[in-house]
Amino acid sequence: MKTVEEVRNDIPLTKKYIYADNGATTPVPKPVVAAMDEYFLDYCSNVKRGTYSIAQKASLEWENARKKISEILLKCSPEELIFTRNCTEGAAIVSYALEHSLFNDGKENEPVIKWENHDRIVSTIMEHHSNFMTWLRVAQHLNLGFDVVKPKKDCKLTPELFEIDEKTNFVSFQHVSNAVGTVHDVKEIIKTIKEKNLKCLVFVDGSQGPGHMPVNVKDLGCDFYSFSGHKGPLGPQGTGGLYVKKELIEKMEPMILGGGIISDVSENGYRLADTYSKRFDAGTPNIAGMIGLGRAAEYVNEIGLENIEKREKKLGRILLDGLKEMKDVEIYGSDDDRGTVTFNIKGWRSHDVSLALDEKNILTRAGHHCCIPLMKFLGIHEKYGGNVRVSFHYYNTEEEVKKIIEAIGELV
Ligand code: ALA
Repeated sequence: MKTVEEVRNDIPLTKKYIYADNGATTPVPKPVVAAMDEYFLDYCSNVKRGTYSIAQKASLEWENARKKISEILLKCSPEELIFTRNCTEGAAIVSYALEHSLFNDGKENEPVIKWENHDRIVSTIMEHHSNFMTWLRVAQHLNLGFDVVKPKKDCKLTPELFEIDEKTNFVSFQHVSNAVGTVHDVKEIIKTIKEKNLKCLVFVDGSQGPGHMPVNVKDLGCDFYSFSGHKGPLGPQGTGGLYVKKELIEKMEPMILGGGIISDVSENGYRLADTYSKRFDAGTPNIAGMIGLGRAAEYVNEIGLENIEKREKKLGRILLDGLKEMKDVEIYGSDDDRGTVTFNIKGWRSHDVSLALDEKNILTRAGHHCCIPLMKFLGIHEKYGGNVRVSFHYYNTEEEVKKIIEAIGELV
């Protein structure tokens, strides 16, 4: 296990600022930067193409990264992990496959979902725009119903909120809210959805999940799980992953065609690679980035994913309890222990609070967090311009939380 001090030494930025905007992106620790430096400086070459030794090493490290990311962050097999630029791209890849049947070897295959009249997609009001607009567009393109689940005031998604019938073929919802911080019982929700309609496919937006906590996609029972590498896992931007259950990945039409994903091409057609996850690697990928994310997966594993989760919850608890003492502070989301806490100060625009905290080197995010439907639902879009978000990671300290509470107290 790595100590907090060791991790802080690997992230120099933590010495200058109280970095509490981990929901947006995280700083990258030195060993992760070193893995990317090593690729650029010692064996920079393209993957899956060259025969010379450093090209082979690059290909090997690239596939090693897939193994580490799948096994550590998601607990799935490497064949079920598609490399992406971010969580948003994972949703786009799935939505493309929902609208296009797989074409391979000159033949059209069975679609992932055989849409019929009056079929419905279900999403929730809590979602980030990327996990909302994407499915709304599919529904509008295919003339499907689009239903939106609304939680109670505590912003917790629970199984009974989801109305599922035999016409509900696709449901998408988040693991953790980026805008209020609540962590949902994904396993229980999926279990209930599948009990009501076994055919219904479930996509989980895991942007704020892996790296902050242990995630086991098999245990959750989802069909798709998408995440970004630059948040919980401490990897670089431009990296992410999409888990797709094996029997579904076989049916999916790749969104992009190009080099590196085929076994044969002729004037009459093409045959895609036999390894399904590789069908989604068209073009020269972000090689250094994915090698970096592979190293980052190892790094969070060295800290211990349970330790990260426990620590974030502890820090969040201290902040929640501190804010609850303040008369003019509104807190959003449930009262559960969690690593992300959001609030407003009565009479202040959320951005002004964030700017005032910045003057004390406390870095937070304010605004709608790309969740305008949720902000409107909570009645804080016009009133405060959203909310102020404090999002922790393992390297934040109790002393920092005390300083944040003090600073907010002064503003109040
Ligand atoms: N989606 C990221 C956030 O919540 C950028 O800040």
